[in-house]
Amino acid sequence: MASIGIFDSGSGGLSVLREIRKILPQERFIYWSDNAHCPYGEKTAGYIIDRSRAITDFMLSKGARAVVVACNTATAAAIATLRAEYDIPFVGMEPAVKPAASGTRSGVVGVLATAGTLSAPKYLNIKGQYADAVRIAESVGRGYVELVESLELDGPHAEEVVRASLEPLLEAGADTIVLGCTHYPFLLPVMQRIAPQGVKFIDPAPAVARRLKDVLEQAGIPLNDPEPGVELLSSGPDATLKKLFKLI
Ligand code: DGL
Repeated sequence: MASIGIFDSGSGGLSVLREIRKILPQERFIYWSDNAHCPYGEKTAGYIIDRSRAITDFMLSKGARAVVVACNTATAAAIATLRAEYDIPFVGMEPAVKPAASGTRSGVVGVLATAGTLSAPKYLNIKGQYADAVRIAESVGRGYVELVESLELDGPHAEEVVRASLEPLLEAGADTIVLGCTHYPFLLPVMQRIAPQGVKFIDPAPAVARRLKDVLEQAGIPLNDPEPGVELLSSGPDATLKKLFKLI
């Protein structure tokens, strides 16, 4: 039985699984929340590479034919190593700076991501490609991952935490904001309430889902599993994953 592995530091990657299932509804997925090691955002690249290898080994032992790194931080730190070391296709996250740069009217693009993503060479390279065309303002979504992992997706405290990292981007004039961490789409309703009308938020997950479909087809991996579904697993006790899964 073929399956597709998906992992994140926690439950955030469910925002990617949601989009993947829209276009690949007949597949079998294994979702791994690495919550015993969450958050990844402030960890070293070496630590994240070791975790990504361990999770990939586990996915292979479960029969995965491809792995989605549904975490911007892990993609930035580890996907090149994974691709070099394993013989299966990997699909990762990339902050959607390109569509944001072509869509902005104010000429300022905001990027919300973890500290790990914003300092990784992979991101700095993407940013460099657009530096002449637009101004890029960045902000670390401090406390956002913790809000999502504790299922505090709205309310006065969530709003205060979201506002603290979002406002600097709005003040810098950003009219298009890239959600550069897979946890952040779960806070989108709060962000939209804080931001003035007309500010656009870009979630790369739909593009990643389309990319996964192409990659599976190109690799000749058979689609339409006879037993479609999602197996939810985590590295530590987890009350969030199953609850958040019900919301997607
Ligand atoms: N959801 C992850 C990302 O996309 C990781 C967040 C974290 O663990 O800090 O970056």
